[in-house]
Amino acid sequence: MRSHYCGLVDETLIGQTVTLCGWADTRRDHGKLIFIDLRDHEGIVQCVAEPENEAAFKPAEGVRYEYCLRIVGKVQARPASQVNENLRSGKIEVIADSVEILNAAAPLPFMLDDSVGEDTRLRYRYLDIRRPDMQRKLRMRTRLVSALRHYLDDKGFQDIETPILTKATPEGARDYLVPSRVHPGEFFALPQSPQLFKQLLMMAGMDRYYQIARCFRDEDLRADRQPEFTQLDMEFAFVGERDVQDFVEGMIRSIFKQVVDVDLVAEFPRLTYAEAMRRYGSDKPDLRIELELVDVADAVKSCDFKVFSGPANDIGGRVAALRVPSGAELTRKQLDDYGVYVQKCGAKGLAWIRIDDLDKGREGLTSPIVKFLGDDAIKAIFAAVGAQTGDVIFFGAGPYKTVSDFLGALRLKVARDLGLVANAWRPLWIVDFPMFEYDFDAKRYVALHHPFTAPKVDDVSDLRANAAISVSRGYDMVLNGNEIGGGSIRIHRPEMQSTVFELLGIGAEEAEAKFGFLLDALKYGAPPHGGIAFGIDRIAALMAGTESIRDVIAFPKTASAQCLLTSAPSSVPEAQLQELHVRVVKPVKS
Ligand code: AMO
Ligand code: AMP
Repeated sequence: MRSHYCGLVDETLIGQTVTLCGWADTRRDHGKLIFIDLRDHEGIVQCVAEPENEAAFKPAEGVRYEYCLRIVGKVQARPASQVNENLRSGKIEVIADSVEILNAAAPLPFMLDDSVGEDTRLRYRYLDIRRPDMQRKLRMRTRLVSALRHYLDDKGFQDIETPILTKATPEGARDYLVPSRVHPGEFFALPQSPQLFKQLLMMAGMDRYYQIARCFRDEDLRADRQPEFTQLDMEFAFVGERDVQDFVEGMIRSIFKQVVDVDLVAEFPRLTYAEAMRRYGSDKPDLRIELELVDVADAVKSCDFKVFSGPANDIGGRVAALRVPSGAELTRKQLDDYGVYVQKCGAKGLAWIRIDDLDKGREGLTSPIVKFLGDDAIKAIFAAVGAQTGDVIFFGAGPYKTVSDFLGALRLKVARDLGLVANAWRPLWIVDFPMFEYDFDAKRYVALHHPFTAPKVDDVSDLRANAAISVSRGYDMVLNGNEIGGGSIRIHRPEMQSTVFELLGIGAEEAEAKFGFLLDALKYGAPPHGGIAFGIDRIAALMAGTESIRDVIAFPKTASAQCLLTSAPSSVPEAQLQELHVRVVKPVKS
């Protein structure tokens, strides 16, 4: 149907006749001449219909916004005054011999620009994706996936599909369930990840596996979370953690260079989980921001301010400070707003000291709390954080995790507000995660990664004796504050796997029912193995420079897990439910 792409027609084609297909981006009627900007995925080209040529002019008169057209015409140089240097086709125009309307377009519900709300864009996603910005993002994602595939194919990885209708794999979210028609009352679960299948493939001697795998998790959604998302899932036999980490670090470096021409550092730094929480209040620290948390419990242990001295003397407590250079620019209203912000992250309050003039002692400070603090305490705090005139110092006090979380969140927010986020790429590894986390509500341990992650200790009785403080062989890759990948060395001995299940409160019977096939497989000479999975959507979003992974997914769900385009989920006919042996107790939608 066409000889060239619109956006690629340029001065090298002057004098030639081209046949172009695309959409009418604009139509300008200059009385005598009609100008149509014809757009396809490569860009736009200006076409001109002259009144003397009826085959072009007549149809052109009827052309409206987003009509689908085919235009045959001759490429000619634009008059010097009309040259547009910003367009590849900006030096030429196409004098139409004929304009054919392939399909008319009803008036669009919105203009294809950035001015429209996301719900409307998602409802008419097929129009939204016509926008050059969406074209760019989705095409970048294609390049990313293709680069990954090439890289891994070259290195001998086997691309193997694993089932979508399967049994639950615990990754910490709820399962999406599919009722079985053939087996009344029984359900498949959609995989939260291919975790167990890829381990079985290592036991099956496949050696190196990867899959661009769809995962399904029913969890609270955010800008970086979708109920179905895509992983680059990988597994390696006969490896330790450094083998996996070094390999995938090289892969990530290579694809960033290929896809977005970014040079990531030669060796990603490693931080332990404990150090990340201590210095950044997060297990996915954004290293583009230099601000760090500093522990000041020692300085306030014996002060009269109970809010500080309480946690400072409690083994599970934390008192930490966040020094913000140039924080004195913040208005009183902003400071109060931060107090409200951290409360959403579980804080009871947010104390602060503004240093208007360090040399003036107390006189030079503005703060709701200095009146509670002795001179020694203030001096010790200032020494610990390296206080300077012009700073604001924020304080968090309370349980260790709560304080780390809210000061970690504040660190990000203040840095964004004050423009303290460097324009850079800062990858790192987080290692030495705790093996278990104690869930105080459920009164039991939960796995920090998943229950197949190996502990650092080899010995089962060692693990039992030190469960609370045991460290796992898990690792996460973090880039600019996003967890882009997570993995571990796995348990490959049945007795260790049973012990971990037991410590997680999964009894022998339940373990057999849920994971009997894995425990069986581990009995037959399972090799040591490990792997990792990367969030493709998150990497694509970072590469495309967008905050939301929805922007790099063609047909994403909303924050309330709906597809606005197809109106899924939706109710189904009673007969279909009966066939599936399902009765709806309380309709979710009326
Ligand atoms: P994990 O649960 O850490 O590990 O997931 C791996 C990576 O997948 C991405 N990710 C998500 N992206 C979008 N929406 C979501 N809801 C979502 N959840 C996770 C993240 C994350 O780092 N089976 C293990 C991997 C392994 O141990 O090999 C797993 O799934 O970028
Ligand atoms: P109060 O004595 O509750 O009025 O608190 C005095 C100051 O300490 C206020 O600025 C509070 O925001 C702050 N504050 C209260 N609780 C905490 C906390 N857990 N961590 C940090 N600051 C707090």
